[in-house]
Amino acid sequence: MSKALTYLAKTRPEAATHLLGFYKHSVQALDEKTRHLIQIVTKVTVGTERGLRQYAPKALKAGASREEILDAVLMAFPAAGLNKVLDAIDILRDMDLLPEVPDAAPAVNPEKRLGRLEEFPIQKMHCLQRPEANLIIFRSSPETAVVYSARCPHSKANLCKGTDHGTTVECRVHNWIFDLNSGQCMEPPGSPGLERIPSVLRDGELYLA
Ligand code: FES
Repeated sequence: MSKALTYLAKTRPEAATHLLGFYKHSVQALDEKTRHLIQIVTKVTVGTERGLRQYAPKALKAGASREEILDAVLMAFPAAGLNKVLDAIDILRDMDLLPEVPDAAPAVNPEKRLGRLEEFPIQKMHCLQRPEANLIIFRSSPETAVVYSARCPHSKANLCKGTDHGTTVECRVHNWIFDLNSGQCMEPPGSPGLERIPSVLRDGELYLA
Protein backbone atom coordinates (compact mmCIF):
# COMPACT_ATOMS: atom_id res chain seq x y z
CA MET A 1 0.00 0.00 0.00
CA SER A 2 1.26 3.51 -0.79
CA LYS A 3 2.15 5.88 2.02
CA ALA A 4 -0.76 8.11 1.03
CA LEU A 5 -3.25 5.24 1.36
CA THR A 6 -1.73 4.26 4.70
CA TYR A 7 -2.17 7.87 5.79
CA LEU A 8 -5.82 7.88 4.61
CA ALA A 9 -6.51 4.56 6.34
CA LYS A 10 -5.45 6.18 9.61
CA THR A 11 -6.99 9.61 9.20
CA ARG A 12 -10.18 8.63 7.31
CA PRO A 13 -10.59 4.96 8.20
CA GLU A 14 -14.18 4.63 6.97
CA ALA A 15 -13.53 6.20 3.59
CA ALA A 16 -10.30 4.27 3.18
CA THR A 17 -11.97 0.97 4.11
CA HIS A 18 -14.60 1.44 1.40
CA LEU A 19 -12.03 2.52 -1.13
CA LEU A 20 -9.73 -0.42 -0.45
CA GLY A 21 -12.72 -2.78 -0.31
CA PHE A 22 -13.70 -1.65 -3.77
CA TYR A 23 -10.24 -2.47 -5.14
CA LYS A 24 -10.17 -5.79 -3.36
CA HIS A 25 -13.60 -7.06 -4.38
CA SER A 26 -14.33 -5.45 -7.73
CA VAL A 27 -11.88 -7.47 -9.84
CA GLN A 28 -12.34 -11.19 -9.38
CA ALA A 29 -12.36 -12.84 -12.80
CA LEU A 30 -8.98 -11.58 -14.01
CA ASP A 31 -5.79 -13.36 -13.06
CA GLU A 32 -3.01 -11.47 -11.32
CA LYS A 33 -0.82 -11.01 -14.39
CA THR A 34 -3.71 -9.59 -16.45
CA ARG A 35 -4.66 -7.22 -13.64
CA HIS A 36 -1.15 -5.84 -13.42
CA LEU A 37 -0.86 -5.48 -17.19
CA ILE A 38 -4.11 -3.50 -17.23
CA GLN A 39 -2.73 -1.39 -14.40
CA ILE A 40 0.22 -0.58 -16.64
CA VAL A 41 -2.18 0.60 -19.35
CA THR A 42 -3.98 2.85 -16.88
CA LYS A 43 -0.76 4.22 -15.36
CA VAL A 44 0.59 5.12 -18.77
CA THR A 45 -2.74 6.71 -19.71
CA VAL A 46 -2.84 8.96 -16.66
CA GLY A 47 0.90 9.52 -16.79
CA THR A 48 1.84 8.42 -13.30
CA GLU A 49 5.48 7.40 -13.07
CA ARG A 50 5.09 6.16 -9.53
CA GLY A 51 2.21 3.86 -10.50
CA LEU A 52 4.16 2.55 -13.44
CA ARG A 53 7.19 1.84 -11.28
CA GLN A 54 4.88 0.04 -8.85
CA TYR A 55 2.91 -2.16 -11.23
CA ALA A 56 5.38 -3.05 -13.98
CA PRO A 57 7.60 -5.10 -11.60
CA LYS A 58 4.45 -6.72 -10.20
CA ALA A 59 3.40 -7.76 -13.71
CA LEU A 60 6.84 -9.26 -14.34
CA LYS A 61 6.72 -11.09 -11.02
CA ALA A 62 3.24 -12.43 -11.85
CA GLY A 63 4.62 -14.03 -15.02
CA ALA A 64 4.32 -11.32 -17.68
CA SER A 65 7.12 -11.21 -20.22
CA ARG A 66 8.93 -8.00 -21.17
CA GLU A 67 7.19 -8.23 -24.56
CA GLU A 68 3.80 -8.26 -22.82
CA ILE A 69 4.77 -5.25 -20.72
CA LEU A 70 5.74 -3.38 -23.89
CA ASP A 71 2.40 -4.38 -25.45
CA ALA A 72 0.57 -3.00 -22.42
CA VAL A 73 2.41 0.31 -22.76
CA LEU A 74 1.55 0.49 -26.46
CA MET A 75 -2.10 -0.34 -25.78
CA ALA A 76 -2.33 2.91 -23.85
CA PHE A 77 -1.44 4.90 -26.96
CA PRO A 78 -4.98 5.76 -28.23
CA ALA A 79 -5.89 7.35 -24.88
CA ALA A 80 -2.47 8.43 -23.64
CA GLY A 81 -0.91 9.84 -26.80
CA LEU A 82 2.65 9.50 -28.00
CA ASN A 83 4.45 11.58 -25.35
CA LYS A 84 3.14 9.58 -22.40
CA VAL A 85 3.93 6.33 -24.17
CA LEU A 86 7.49 7.49 -24.88
CA ASP A 87 7.90 8.69 -21.27
CA ALA A 88 6.74 5.27 -20.05
CA ILE A 89 9.19 3.53 -22.35
CA ASP A 90 12.03 5.67 -20.95
CA ILE A 91 11.02 4.78 -17.39
CA LEU A 92 10.65 1.06 -18.07
CA ARG A 93 13.89 0.86 -20.03
CA ASP A 94 15.58 2.51 -17.09
CA MET A 95 14.11 -0.26 -14.91
CA ASP A 96 15.22 -2.95 -17.40
CA LEU A 97 11.61 -4.11 -17.81
CA LEU A 98 11.38 -3.93 -21.61
CA PRO A 99 12.77 -6.29 -24.29
CA GLU A 100 16.36 -5.79 -25.40
CA VAL A 101 16.89 -4.00 -28.69
CA PRO A 102 17.65 -6.83 -31.17
CA ASP A 103 21.13 -6.81 -32.67
CA ALA A 104 21.17 -5.47 -36.19
CA ALA A 105 21.49 -8.27 -38.73
CA PRO A 106 25.01 -8.40 -40.16
CA ALA A 107 25.32 -7.11 -43.71
CA VAL A 108 25.44 -9.66 -46.49
CA ASN A 109 27.75 -9.46 -49.48
CA PRO A 110 25.73 -9.66 -52.75
CA GLU A 111 28.72 -11.32 -54.41
CA LYS A 112 28.33 -14.21 -52.00
CA ARG A 113 24.72 -14.86 -52.94
CA LEU A 114 24.06 -18.54 -53.65
CA GLY A 115 20.42 -18.25 -54.68
CA ARG A 116 16.88 -18.19 -53.44
CA LEU A 117 16.09 -20.92 -50.96
CA GLU A 118 13.24 -22.25 -53.10
CA GLU A 119 15.68 -22.88 -55.92
CA PHE A 120 17.18 -25.75 -53.94
CA PRO A 121 15.21 -29.00 -53.77
CA ILE A 122 14.28 -30.20 -50.29
CA GLN A 123 16.26 -33.20 -48.98
CA LYS A 124 18.24 -33.47 -52.18
CA MET A 125 21.83 -32.67 -53.09
CA HIS A 126 22.39 -29.53 -55.15
CA CYS A 127 25.84 -28.68 -56.52
CA LEU A 128 27.12 -25.20 -57.25
CA GLN A 129 30.34 -24.24 -58.93
CA ARG A 130 31.85 -21.14 -57.34
CA PRO A 131 35.16 -19.43 -58.10
CA GLU A 132 36.42 -20.25 -54.62
CA ALA A 133 35.21 -23.87 -54.46
CA ASN A 134 32.63 -26.39 -55.54
CA LEU A 135 29.79 -26.46 -53.05
CA ILE A 136 27.04 -28.82 -52.07
CA ILE A 137 23.86 -27.14 -50.92
CA PHE A 138 21.43 -29.31 -49.05
CA ARG A 139 18.05 -27.90 -48.12
CA SER A 140 17.38 -29.90 -45.00
CA SER A 141 13.89 -28.41 -44.47
CA PRO A 142 11.62 -25.85 -46.20
CA GLU A 143 13.17 -23.10 -44.03
CA THR A 144 16.86 -24.05 -43.83
CA ALA A 145 19.78 -25.12 -45.94
CA VAL A 146 23.31 -26.24 -45.15
CA VAL A 147 26.33 -25.66 -47.35
CA TYR A 148 29.30 -28.05 -47.60
CA SER A 149 32.54 -28.05 -49.49
CA ALA A 150 32.15 -30.58 -52.30
CA ARG A 151 35.73 -31.74 -51.72
CA CYS A 152 35.79 -35.28 -50.37
CA PRO A 153 37.58 -35.28 -47.00
CA HIS A 154 39.30 -38.55 -47.92
CA SER A 155 41.33 -37.59 -50.96
CA LYS A 156 39.77 -34.38 -52.29
CA ALA A 157 37.69 -35.88 -55.10
CA ASN A 158 34.77 -33.77 -56.29
CA LEU A 159 31.66 -35.14 -54.57
CA CYS A 160 29.45 -33.40 -57.13
CA LYS A 161 30.61 -36.14 -59.47
CA GLY A 162 29.72 -38.79 -56.93
CA THR A 163 26.52 -40.79 -56.70
CA ASP A 164 23.57 -38.86 -55.36
CA HIS A 165 21.43 -41.12 -53.16
CA GLY A 166 19.04 -38.36 -52.09
CA THR A 167 20.00 -37.61 -48.50
CA THR A 168 23.45 -39.19 -48.91
CA VAL A 169 26.22 -38.86 -51.45
CA GLU A 170 28.76 -41.54 -52.34
CA CYS A 171 32.24 -40.57 -53.49
CA ARG A 172 33.02 -42.28 -56.78
CA VAL A 173 36.71 -42.73 -55.98
CA HIS A 174 36.74 -44.91 -52.85
CA ASN A 175 32.99 -45.06 -52.13
CA TRP A 176 32.89 -43.17 -48.88
CA ILE A 177 29.29 -42.22 -48.10
CA PHE A 178 28.23 -38.96 -46.41
CA ASP A 179 24.96 -38.02 -44.76
CA LEU A 180 23.91 -34.64 -46.14
CA ASN A 181 21.73 -33.71 -43.17
CA SER A 182 24.60 -33.91 -40.69
CA GLY A 183 27.65 -33.96 -42.95
CA GLN A 184 28.92 -37.05 -41.13
CA CYS A 185 30.70 -39.89 -42.85
CA MET A 186 28.50 -42.98 -42.71
CA GLU A 187 30.82 -45.33 -44.55
CA PRO A 188 33.43 -46.07 -43.31
CA PRO A 189 32.03 -45.10 -39.90
CA GLY A 190 34.09 -42.69 -37.80
CA SER A 191 35.89 -41.17 -40.79
CA PRO A 192 36.04 -37.39 -41.26
CA GLY A 193 32.82 -35.75 -42.38
CA LEU A 194 32.09 -33.01 -44.90
CA GLU A 195 33.47 -29.53 -44.32
CA ARG A 196 30.60 -27.22 -43.41
CA ILE A 197 30.75 -23.79 -45.04
CA PRO A 198 29.19 -20.97 -42.97
CA SER A 199 26.15 -19.48 -44.65
CA VAL A 200 23.43 -17.03 -43.84
CA LEU A 201 19.79 -16.87 -44.90
CA ARG A 202 18.40 -13.37 -45.44
CA ASP A 203 14.92 -12.61 -46.80
CA GLY A 204 14.69 -16.02 -48.44
CA GLU A 205 18.13 -15.71 -50.08
CA LEU A 206 21.09 -17.88 -49.18
CA TYR A 207 24.57 -16.32 -48.94
CA LEU A 208 28.03 -17.46 -47.94
CA ALA A 209 28.75 -15.88 -44.54
S1 FES B 1 38.46 -39.50 -52.47
FE1 FES B 1 36.45 -39.75 -51.84
S2 FES B 1 36.40 -41.63 -50.91
FE2 FES B 1 38.45 -41.40 -51.46
